[in-house]
Amino acid sequence: MNALIAYFSYTGHTRGIAQKMRGITDGTLFEIRPAIPYDPDYNTTERQGRKEIRDGYRPPLAQQTDLGACDVILLGTPNWFNTIAPPVATFLAENDFTSKIIIPFVTNGGGGLGHIPADIKALARGAKVLNSLNIYEDGGSDANNNSADWLKKSGL
Ligand SMILES: Cc1cc2nc3c(=O)[nH]c(=O)nc-3n(C[C@H](O)[C@H](O)[C@H](O)COP(=O)(O)O)c2cc1C
Repeated sequence: MNALIAYFSYTGHTRGIAQKMRGITDGTLFEIRPAIPYDPDYNTTERQGRKEIRDGYRPPLAQQTDLGACDVILLGTPNWFNTIAPPVATFLAENDFTSKIIIPFVTNGGGGLGHIPADIKALARGAKVLNSLNIYEDGGSDANNNSADWLKKSGL
């Protein structure tokens, strides 16, 4: 299996999990970055994120990637107001996932997955979307084992 690990991260939790996935799968890392980075001030970004989600805004990305060679996409997002972060929505809307498998991993501040699995399925044209891994904040000391178990369960 040729895996791409595509993730967005604002405070670093999802990036940390993506790096663990990279260690486990030997996949290729791709950071989904908005062309205009979010403000380092958390409250400012929270306000902006809330507005972007309410408006269905999809921020342009700094960089695209070619999905052609990969069979599986491990897709990482933080839970932002019970859905995917807006740059992840852009990534899903702008790519064709025909005959690809998406395995989502979600970090959250206590709100769990929200409606993230359904939102990914609705946007990812052509993909088979498997069950999401749900991680509280940075996943703590169990993050590596939990990620490895979940990848095994997902058939990787
Ligand atoms: C704009 C914004 C909205 C958030 N909304 C939620 C939420 O609705 N539920 C929740 O559990 N956590 C929420 N969080 C917390 C993050 O999901 C959590 O801290 C996550 O691990 C951050 O991942 P990151 O470090 O990769 O950005 C929110 C964080 C931000 C910045």
